[in-house]
Amino acid sequence: MKLGIFGLCRGLNFVKSAKLNGVDVVAICDWDPKRIETALTTCPPGTATYSNFDEFIKHDMDAVVIANYFNEHAPYAIKAMENGKDVLCECTAAITLGECVELVEAVERTGKLYMLAENYPFIKGPMEMEKVYSSGALGRVLYSHGEYVHPGTIEDTNRYTRGEYHWRGWTPRTYYLTHSLGPIMHITKAYPKTITAISASAPELVKGTSKHTSDGIAIMMCNMSDGSISTFSGAGATGGRGIWYRIGCLDGYIETARGNADEVCLQYNSWEVPEGKAERSTYVPVPDGVEVPTDKYMAAGHGGSDYFVMKHFKAAFEGKEEPYFNVYRATQMSACAILGWRSVLENGKTMNVPDFTNKEDRELYRNDFVNPYPKADRTFDIPCCKQEYHPSKEELKEVNEFWDKEQIFIDPKIR
Ligand SMILES: NC(=O)c1ccc[n+]([C@@H]2O[C@H](COP(=O)([O-])OP(=O)(O)OC[C@H]3O[C@@H](n4cnc5c(N)ncnc54)[C@H](O)[C@@H]3O)[C@@H](O)[C@H]2O)c1
Repeated sequence: MKLGIFGLCRGLNFVKSAKLNGVDVVAICDWDPKRIETALTTCPPGTATYSNFDEFIKHDMDAVVIANYFNEHAPYAIKAMENGKDVLCECTAAITLGECVELVEAVERTGKLYMLAENYPFIKGPMEMEKVYSSGALGRVLYSHGEYVHPGTIEDTNRYTRGEYHWRGWTPRTYYLTHSLGPIMHITKAYPKTITAISASAPELVKGTSKHTSDGIAIMMCNMSDGSISTFSGAGATGGRGIWYRIGCLDGYIETARGNADEVCLQYNSWEVPEGKAERSTYVPVPDGVEVPTDKYMAAGHGGSDYFVMKHFKAAFEGKEEPYFNVYRATQMSACAILGWRSVLENGKTMNVPDFTNKEDRELYRNDFVNPYPKADRTFDIPCCKQEYHPSKEELKEVNEFWDKEQIFIDPKIR
């Protein structure tokens, strides 16, 4: 597979995972010259470089990783498929329900492969949870929980939020949910049917930044397609970084250890312990299907999960498997992010989550492009948090000075 990478911050991780999977990176694209320069130190010799997507996408390659701005994935993924390329797209698939419909129909129209690069289901613990749950040993799931918490210092926030109108400054807390909902869907194979959400405001987290989103966390609650219920966070900024997943079933539970998602804790009802198993065990599982040394795959990024994302994408490209996070599941998650946010704005109102395999559902949302991100004229349709933060002139001046001092490239459209 000849692979191109669009967007070279997160995008750079894919160079490592491509190499481990025998995939050739042949072209890269970013309009930040510094990021191109850094990328070239790890890319194979002869990798072509572009600053313009329309030129990049014409390069002789089979597939592209879409790792540009979070709020602009769908239009570029569609353009890539229309140019004959398969797509591995970073999270999230789409930021409006209308885009979800456009994306699904672009995949159907072009017949190209589309896979969401959601990686957290492929960390050791969640992978083991999938294996144990799908074996049937725990019986039916009734309740699941997914938590993703990623706080940052003010300095890091300013380093990664590159412009007052950069996506990180306007992303509502429900929008970054694939790392918490994705593992739940992958483990149980269920999907959300309804969603209700609430958020907690924490303006103290954004003082001294250019951000407008000042919520600290949002919690979503879903009725799932298998009759269970699930609760999960969007990206939370409560203190102490970490992830945690739990599946509560009729005959027992399995969960990742607190503070270590490589480890799991498995417990059966005392009267239903399978032959040869302990009632309660805590262990670090060994994942199946790793074809490279452990230290190398673990170093690929995010607890080794980045290695598995590329492995699955390559297998799908070679026709050996259907990607689990295909366009329908990817857009189901985006729909939860979008409707979860509307639920927050309507004080926890329950929303039905559309099923984009269903053509009638598509008609309901085909023209729905409401979203919280600023448009070119810097107006927006809906607020990005319950109590919007408006950075003062003084704060913005200081942040701009910080970007200049650190020589951070700021796209003028979003400064
Ligand atoms: N799965 C994960 O573990 C994980 C981790 C980090 C980020 N992400 C996702 O990856 C995506 C990118 O995140 P990031 O942190 O790299 O964001 P970012 O905004 O820092 O980087 C985006 C890059 O794309 C470039 N870019 C954007 N539009 C462009 C255009 N039209 N032409 C040329 N270059 C363009 C920018 O210059 C920048 O270098 C996001 O969707 C984010 O959610 C996923």
